[in-house]
Amino acid sequence: MAQAIGVDIGGTGIKAGIVNLEHGTLDSERIRVPTPEGARPADVLDTVREVLDTLGVTGSDLPLGVAFPAIVKYGRTLSAANISKDWVDFEAEKFFEDGLGRHIAFVNDADAAGVAEVRHGAARDARGLTIMTTLGTGIGSAFLYNGVLIPNTELGHMRHDGESIERWAAYSAMERESLSWEAWSTRLQEFYSLVEFLFSPDLFVVGGGVSKHPEMFLPLLELKTPIVSAIHRNASGIIGAASLAAD
Ligand code: BGC
Repeated sequence: MAQAIGVDIGGTGIKAGIVNLEHGTLDSERIRVPTPEGARPADVLDTVREVLDTLGVTGSDLPLGVAFPAIVKYGRTLSAANISKDWVDFEAEKFFEDGLGRHIAFVNDADAAGVAEVRHGAARDARGLTIMTTLGTGIGSAFLYNGVLIPNTELGHMRHDGESIERWAAYSAMERESLSWEAWSTRLQEFYSLVEFLFSPDLFVVGGGVSKHPEMFLPLLELKTPIVSAIHRNASGIIGAASLAAD
């Protein structure tokens, strides 16, 4: 049975699992440990090692995909919103490969989640433009046009009141400011209405930390575009990273 390992590095947690590539599901439990304070490269690498060890896959020759919360271009991380600024313009893929002593596939976290949902989830067989958004510490986005990923779209960094809109509308903003679901949904409405106007998508898929509670906010949004929650919820990043590693 074809398997690969997926690691999803987020601003708050580092998650990993062994993925069944045929079904796009987890063959192992989902391991999660908190992202180290400050999320500096050496500390993140140590935590990834720990997570792989807990999963029992250190030294495994299964393909390994690592999803990361930054712009990723030719293996370099070009941005750092909820992680240490040390990642800006950093040879991250090589850093992880050297540190883990093995080859990896390295990709933006929302792009990985989008690939999982297009191959095995809510956007399977979707035509036209699917926009995957992840609502967690930040807001991640992935554009999938007829199933093909257009990477590094970064919708969470559209401006709102002079700062990235994710500061105001991500799930972390709701937690930080103790907003009610209704109050937070008003912010999401503004975010999704703007994205809908700019890109006229055919489908929105919502993943990330909040996807455990889709019924609390999806019905409150008024959009022309269908909006559904990610089938793989918060495991989409793991599944997509693993799936891309096996390509
Ligand atoms: C980052 C994105 C990432 C998103 C979700 C944003 O702050 O800029 O690259 O996909 O957070 O983790």
